[in-house]
Amino acid sequence: MLLGILFGLVNLAVAETGLNGWLRYARLPSAETLHSELPVHVLVLNSTETSPVYTAGSEVAQGIGSIFGKKCSVGYSSGYIPPDNATVIVGTIKQYASSGGLINGIPELEADGFWLNISGSEVQILGQNERGTLYGAFEYLSLLAQGNTSQIAYASNPDAPIRWINQWDNLQGGGTHGSVERGYGGPSIFFENGTVKSNLTRAAQYARLLASIGINAVVVNNVNANESMLTAPIMDGLKRIADVFRPYGVQLGISLYFASPQALGELDTFDPLDGAVIEWWHNRTDQIYKRIPDFAGYLVKANSEGQPGPLTYNRTLAEGANLFARALQPYGGVVMFRAFVYDSQNLNESYWKDDRANAAVQFFNGLDGQFEDNVVIQVKYGPIDFQVREPTSPLFAHLQQTSSAIELEITQEYLGQQCHLVYLPPLWKTVLDFDMRVDSQPSLVRGIVSGQRFNRTLGGYAGVANVGTNQTWLGSHLAMSNLYAFGRLAWNPRLDPASILQDWIRLTFNSDPTVLDTITSMSMESWPTYENYTGNLGIQTLTDILYAHYGPNPASQDNNPWGQWTRADANSIGMDRTVWNGTGFAGQYPPQVAVMYENISTTPDDLLLWFHHVPYTQHLQSGQTVIQHFYDAHYAGAANAQTFPSRWATLKSKIDDQRYEEVLFRLTYQAGHSIVWRDAINNFYFNLSNVPDQAGRVENHPYRIEAESMDLSGYTPYTVSPWNVASGGVAVVTTSNTTVGTASTTLSSITSGTYDVAVNYFDMAIGRSHWQVYLNDQLIGQWIGDSDLTLGHSPSNYIDGHSATRITFPGIQIQKGDVLKIAGTPDGIEPAPLDYISILPEGVVD
Ligand code: GCU
Repeated sequence: MLLGILFGLVNLAVAETGLNGWLRYARLPSAETLHSELPVHVLVLNSTETSPVYTAGSEVAQGIGSIFGKKCSVGYSSGYIPPDNATVIVGTIKQYASSGGLINGIPELEADGFWLNISGSEVQILGQNERGTLYGAFEYLSLLAQGNTSQIAYASNPDAPIRWINQWDNLQGGGTHGSVERGYGGPSIFFENGTVKSNLTRAAQYARLLASIGINAVVVNNVNANESMLTAPIMDGLKRIADVFRPYGVQLGISLYFASPQALGELDTFDPLDGAVIEWWHNRTDQIYKRIPDFAGYLVKANSEGQPGPLTYNRTLAEGANLFARALQPYGGVVMFRAFVYDSQNLNESYWKDDRANAAVQFFNGLDGQFEDNVVIQVKYGPIDFQVREPTSPLFAHLQQTSSAIELEITQEYLGQQCHLVYLPPLWKTVLDFDMRVDSQPSLVRGIVSGQRFNRTLGGYAGVANVGTNQTWLGSHLAMSNLYAFGRLAWNPRLDPASILQDWIRLTFNSDPTVLDTITSMSMESWPTYENYTGNLGIQTLTDILYAHYGPNPASQDNNPWGQWTRADANSIGMDRTVWNGTGFAGQYPPQVAVMYENISTTPDDLLLWFHHVPYTQHLQSGQTVIQHFYDAHYAGAANAQTFPSRWATLKSKIDDQRYEEVLFRLTYQAGHSIVWRDAINNFYFNLSNVPDQAGRVENHPYRIEAESMDLSGYTPYTVSPWNVASGGVAVVTTSNTTVGTASTTLSSITSGTYDVAVNYFDMAIGRSHWQVYLNDQLIGQWIGDSDLTLGHSPSNYIDGHSATRITFPGIQIQKGDVLKIAGTPDGIEPAPLDYISILPEGVVD
């Protein structure tokens, strides 16, 4: 007993990096009591080491050994099945039947599906194919690792055949590694020095994680693709990646650069109807399949954001997609053709009817039915670009004779870049469960992409994951719930986000009720919380869309060439997307949905500003005005984010220290950055509208002392742009690159007592400044500005909403008349920028 307790303590103390994600197979507290109910042997019906069935067998034996501390032997047989007790049989239905197994009573399975029959220590894991067997093995292990040893028998089939991950990895750009566009977990696990990495251990580990959630293919390179993907050395390297993926049933795909034949200097055209171009693509495709016989297919971003495409030659998007589809057909490959097509050159906000949201349906107009059968149109969930809330893309309703897949962003580009906790499935469900009412019939998006609604055989899910070399994969332990949930939802979109999350928590941490409740409640609140302090009522994430897509900058949301607009002026805000008076976007939906959005009174509050341009004083269905809702939501969101660190702190002794500390660091950062967001947005709209906050909070900060109002020596005031990301619009910076600046103040009007001292400053990526806080010359805290390295969000070289941040020193005893001083030591060209300090009585947030 004592030993058991000691072991428990030792286990908790072991540092966990996160590398194993949810596949830790951690020892269960009750492990030994379950030994008699467990198998002792795994019988694998395929002895080829690279086969997924072989992987499944090894994984089961390893998992049982690790979860229960009980040895489980593995044997291989492609013939006779011995009638052993306590055996897990692992194979395909076909292998099982030809080994003499009885398949009566096992329901017919679909591709990739499996049959799992657990009868005490006798277990059957039988897949429709090799991959399905591996999925069944992972499902069995997931049950065991969660302490579930019940007797069950069921078949499980995926909802859709396409369950792909997209990685936006570049061949170069991340030091010696390839960079990852919109990746916040470090550089590429696939590429280095312009070619495929020699060590592909991480690629194999990634395939293992993905197989465990039913993912069957990965497109390994950026949609903004490079023609060198199709050169012989890279294709040879891709073969090596495919080889390490194969034992996990994960197929490899690549993104194509449409103009490759020309860019490689092999042809002088890339016209998709040109005979030489057609031959070129057939030839290259043959070369790929020679190396990778199970190659999954191509992903194509064409005529979008500077990428060339068929429209360059006045050919249709269908003619462009079919070029690749025909080259892939002999091999059974698929073209994922992206619907993210728009013309950023010709959008002009001074035209009331210009609207990027209209682009996809317009560009694909009339093409339904013209695509080859192995083309799948990959559609982002909303009509613009992965915003904190968007209506469902209407294109799903228009593709009835064409397969479609939904593109979801697992990487949190516009949703806090893994530095803010945002559990995404509740957002994804708003789209998957949305009923398009095509022909006034039930038409859920999940039914459309699975192929069921319009009788398509292809379709499904593409998740932009963008993991990197960081041991946590995504840069944040908690963000991994999004990757996990993506796979689970792609397999079964009817699942409840909270129950998926709880499986993930038990597997990633443990089953302690406090751990389970705390992470569940924080995660389930996290998307509404983030939406509250970023962009409300369908206005989109009010971030800086011209730069990092991270911190606040609502001004950048107008007069930009990207067509992401709010049309905010002194009196009113929102895009008028009605048919009667606006851009007409609402009319792209089937009639029953169109009529709902056309009318203000039937448009849900959370999409009001997406569809309508209204005065700030417009009343919502909730009864509140638009502007007061903005103020209240921003305060509520930031207030809730303040609770995350202390809620997490209740888990201190319940999970390992490394992950505890790393998560706490991020949640504390988020709490501070949420205040930056809150104030930047509220100040901006208050300044624009002149409508005061009914609660008197906006621009009224009784606990703050502005740095520029302190006694400065070696520091000088600096007018910040955008003004609204600094308190009072002004910060202070050191007067030279080499000398220390000080800002001091006498706390003469304070009541003596205990306070939290919060310091708001800017941590740019151009240096590692050092700040020290003194109370009466006694050091009470110091830090170095290197969070751009530790946090991994898009770095900023400026004093702006991305670099703005806060550090808090809790429980400081302060006497009336004490002198508070901050000394900032610049580094390189980073001038130790300082915004303000807040002296906060217990429980106050400002
Ligand atoms: C967004 C993102 C880009 C990406 C593009 C796409 O605009 O910011 O980095 O290339 O989407 O999905 O193609």
